[in-house]
Amino acid sequence: MDIPKHVAVIMDGNGRWAKERNLTRLAGHKEGINTVKKVIEAAMKSKIPYLTLYAFSSENWNRPKDEVNGLMALLNHFLEKELKLLLENKVQLKTIGRVHELPKETYQRIEAAKEKTAHFDQLTLTIALNYSSQNEIVDAVKNIVNEAKEDAINIEELDYPKLASYLDTKDLPDPDLIIRTSGEYRLSNFLLLQSAYAEIYTIPTYWPDFNQSHFNKALDQYAQRERRFGKIS
Ligand code: IPE
Ligand code: IPE
Ligand code: MG
Repeated sequence: MDIPKHVAVIMDGNGRWAKERNLTRLAGHKEGINTVKKVIEAAMKSKIPYLTLYAFSSENWNRPKDEVNGLMALLNHFLEKELKLLLENKVQLKTIGRVHELPKETYQRIEAAKEKTAHFDQLTLTIALNYSSQNEIVDAVKNIVNEAKEDAINIEELDYPKLASYLDTKDLPDPDLIIRTSGEYRLSNFLLLQSAYAEIYTIPTYWPDFNQSHFNKALDQYAQRERRFGKIS
């Protein structure tokens, strides 16, 4: 079976899952953390080298303060509790997005976990936090322009691989498969350039109900797709 090298997941539907059960949105996010663990395990079982999870977009700051604070608390809790799981399984943690803008405690925890796992290569787990693909591109352009001013880069030689080396994802291959849960058909500012030739798989299941068998079904679908990259069969 053709296994994707890089699977990226838009984890969506926690709020609707909770609403259907008359629970708070935060209860949905809490339940969603269990799915995160299941999907990390499923990725390891399938020997996928790169797994990227969209956890918090830069636009998500515009949600009610209680929800944002609750999400940050859950993230802290996850980092504290699951670091062991990452170390035991030799998982390298990475992030994309403006993580330095997160609350200081969260940011420090993230950086510590990244440092402790930096030498692992069993699975590279990247969490998109305060991530916006548009902002990522803007930041890259700013850096390129600044370097050009100092003659540190030759603009004539700029191509996609060079531009990609200025993105947060510079150490990751472009995603092969993007999974979105909850039945939405959009990218919501996630990996816009990097997903140029990604296969997209959507499933109506809300994130808290998503499980290993759903994940494996997405991999099966992926294996059946013909990726042409602009060529012909
Ligand atoms: C995804 O679930 C988690 C985050 C965006 C943080 P949502 O919170 O977007 O759930 P819905 O889309 O409102 O159901
Ligand atoms: C995308 O979900 C962001 C994450 C999954 C973290 P959203 O729920 O924020 O996206 P929209 O608003 O439905 O496009
Ligand atoms: Mg949503």
